[in-house]
Amino acid sequence: MGSKIVGCGSAVPNLLISNDDLAQIVETSDEWISVRTGIRNRRVLTGDETLTGLAVEAAKGALQMAEVESDDVDLVIMCTSTPDDLFGGGGQVQRELGCKNAWTFDITAACSGFVVGLITATRFIKGGGYQNILVIGADALSKYVDWTDRGTCILFGDAAGAVLVQACASEEDGLLGFNLHSDGHGQRHLNAIAKDDKNELTSNMNGAPLFPPRKSSYSCIQMNGKEVFRFAVRCVPQAIEAALEEAGIASSSIDWLLLHQANQRIIDAVATRLQIPSDRVIANLANYGNTSAASIPLALAEAVRGGRVKAGDTIATAGFGAGLTWGSAIIRW
Ligand code: ACO
Repeated sequence: MGSKIVGCGSAVPNLLISNDDLAQIVETSDEWISVRTGIRNRRVLTGDETLTGLAVEAAKGALQMAEVESDDVDLVIMCTSTPDDLFGGGGQVQRELGCKNAWTFDITAACSGFVVGLITATRFIKGGGYQNILVIGADALSKYVDWTDRGTCILFGDAAGAVLVQACASEEDGLLGFNLHSDGHGQRHLNAIAKDDKNELTSNMNGAPLFPPRKSSYSCIQMNGKEVFRFAVRCVPQAIEAALEEAGIASSSIDWLLLHQANQRIIDAVATRLQIPSDRVIANLANYGNTSAASIPLALAEAVRGGRVKAGDTIATAGFGAGLTWGSAIIRW
């Protein structure tokens, strides 16, 4: 059994924060940010907006394009590091979408989350018994950004993107090859660590033990930008080359390079290394910044709806980020 992406959608919050806006809260400038990263604007959740709301809107777009009813979805895979519920964000999305015949789980793999989710969906379909799987990449890193740290607050934005992966005949399989990695040794370069108040065990006046609730939260995102940059430029081309080799196709046959949208200089360096010309590179991070697990399906949905990506095109995708995690999927649209 093969699987194909048959629909995609995306959603972003209303509030736009420009580089000039950020220059009013930290010592930076539009020029510094755009030259070093390629980012000009980002969208951030405010008021009643929620990550669940964005994920639902993106998923509805994917279902609509695929002409699939919510009742016909078998599985919802929610790829996120910032769910609205610690126990998982997929349940709320499933409920709001009315996917009553589906089950759901979350995947946490930071900016690699969508690629991991996409490959996971294809494995379920290959195993049999699954027809339609929604894969949603959604993140609101703004919740964990230190807005006084100019080294990180300029990078991130909130968004959601979704695809509908559908079973098809093996000869039409849309996943041509993939390659996944992680290296926990690099976790020190990029993280948002759990903060645990280690309350001492006390006893009441009768000597019975009292168990005070341990209150946990997370630190803001901490990043060694230079190390993450080096890691991405070194590891992402290797993962794409390995996935291409599995697919049996040369990089010259790729119609589109669609990387996790972290930094335009990373995208350019990977394209140069793979000898892919800039007119075959999809990039929209100027408008949205680094939206973590959402960035690939967000850019894909824009490129498909804008008519750039056409039926039969081969797309090399790669996610990379915290963990450290990285991976590539070669897909046929
Ligand atoms: N505005 C102005 N100056 C700044 C800013 C800013 N926003 N940020 C840092 N600087 C200063 C630094 O203080 C430093 O000054 P100094 O030389 O006086 O000490 C100087 O600029 C250079 O700083 P660097 O950190 O060395 O700048 P660099 O060229 O490495 O660019 C950047 C920083 C843009 C963060 C880059 O390293 C990068 O993009 N790295 C990859 C990050 C990434 O992709 N992370 C996300 C992974 S995805 C995930 O899983 C979440």
